[in-house]
Amino acid sequence: MSQDSPVRMDNNQVLIFDTTLRDGEQSPGCSMTTQEKLSMAHALEDLGVDILEAGFAMASEGDFAAIATITQAIRGPRITSLARARSEDIVMAARSLEHADRARIHVFLASSDLHLEYKLKMSREQALDQTAECVRQARALCDDVEFSPEDATRSNRDFLVDMVRVAIQAGATTINMPDTVGYSTPEEYAQMFREVRQRVPAVDAEGIVLSSHCHDDLGLAVANSLAAVAAGARQVECAVNGIGERAGNAALEEVAAAIYVRPDYYGVTTGLHIDKLYPTSQTLGQIITFAPSPNKAIVGANAFAHESGIHQHGMLANPLCYEIMTPASVGVPATTLVLGKHSGRAALRHRLEQLGFTLSREELQQTYYRFVALADRKKNVYDQDLVGLLSQQIRDRRPMSMAEVD
Ligand code: KIV
Ligand code: ZN
Repeated sequence: MSQDSPVRMDNNQVLIFDTTLRDGEQSPGCSMTTQEKLSMAHALEDLGVDILEAGFAMASEGDFAAIATITQAIRGPRITSLARARSEDIVMAARSLEHADRARIHVFLASSDLHLEYKLKMSREQALDQTAECVRQARALCDDVEFSPEDATRSNRDFLVDMVRVAIQAGATTINMPDTVGYSTPEEYAQMFREVRQRVPAVDAEGIVLSSHCHDDLGLAVANSLAAVAAGARQVECAVNGIGERAGNAALEEVAAAIYVRPDYYGVTTGLHIDKLYPTSQTLGQIITFAPSPNKAIVGANAFAHESGIHQHGMLANPLCYEIMTPASVGVPATTLVLGKHSGRAALRHRLEQLGFTLSREELQQTYYRFVALADRKKNVYDQDLVGLLSQQIRDRRPMSMAEVD
């Protein structure tokens, strides 16, 4: 592992820390082989993520092997290995990163009384000592150390501030404050970042990067992550397609697209090639063999599909009427006007023209009646159905009335 300097960046740049291969992989049905993780790591490198959390070295031999393999093949992003605040985990994380060009050890220890009392059976004082000791150990092995007070959002605020202070004094270069159980709200999460920045002057004075890590139990992971950015977080931890423990992590593509579409509001940038968002999502879907839900923002099958006649008409007149980004900008091949019972004549004519049929007004009207009758019986009308309708119409060679199609 090379000893390089920790991440430093412009104040308006947000680092994208991808945890698809670690937290993402922890969700049911999402486990990946080393080869699969390597393919995904290449896709993430192409996408331009800044930090790639490759796994939890101590969790299994497979995880260790995957991290080690990724460090040898991937050169763009900084590679991170997760470790509990235990000496043996930290040693294992450092070993897994031995061949990394740029490495980070990510140490975590719970900060909430609930976790300390029931899970770790540890007092607050012990937790502070362990934080100092483990961050120091990690820092001796790697120049870039991230510390996460797990369950930060349900922790006593004074104690959280103490833990952050201790971690920075011991050498942490990034402080990640996870909403481990997806409990927080955007206002509350943002306030936590503002308060920590204000009460721990070393954060700004020493250029410590504050990071968000949100779970989606209340469907707020992306909103919370963006609220943290607005409050000064300069790293967002997220996963492709939003996969992750339970309801998942903040979806990388949603965070990235929000920052891209609303520079006026967030005033920050990422280093991502956002036209790779959709291909990266597809790669993950193929590897884990399940696609995001069709209505998933940015990368779902319906994210750029329009069915209602009013929307289709507006889209044909000017796509800005119903789309806030072009599909091409996020790598989606094209907008789809889905033909169904809500579609209008404008969309039907457009599709027929794309298929090479130019119809007179009268012909279009006849085809439209037949099309609506068919769409009432069938969920979607495909190109072959349209060609079928036209051939039948040509065969019939006689005008139709509504009564006929009804
Ligand atoms: O959700 C969480 O708290 C985590 C930590 C390990 C960062 O995944
Ligand atoms: Zn997590």
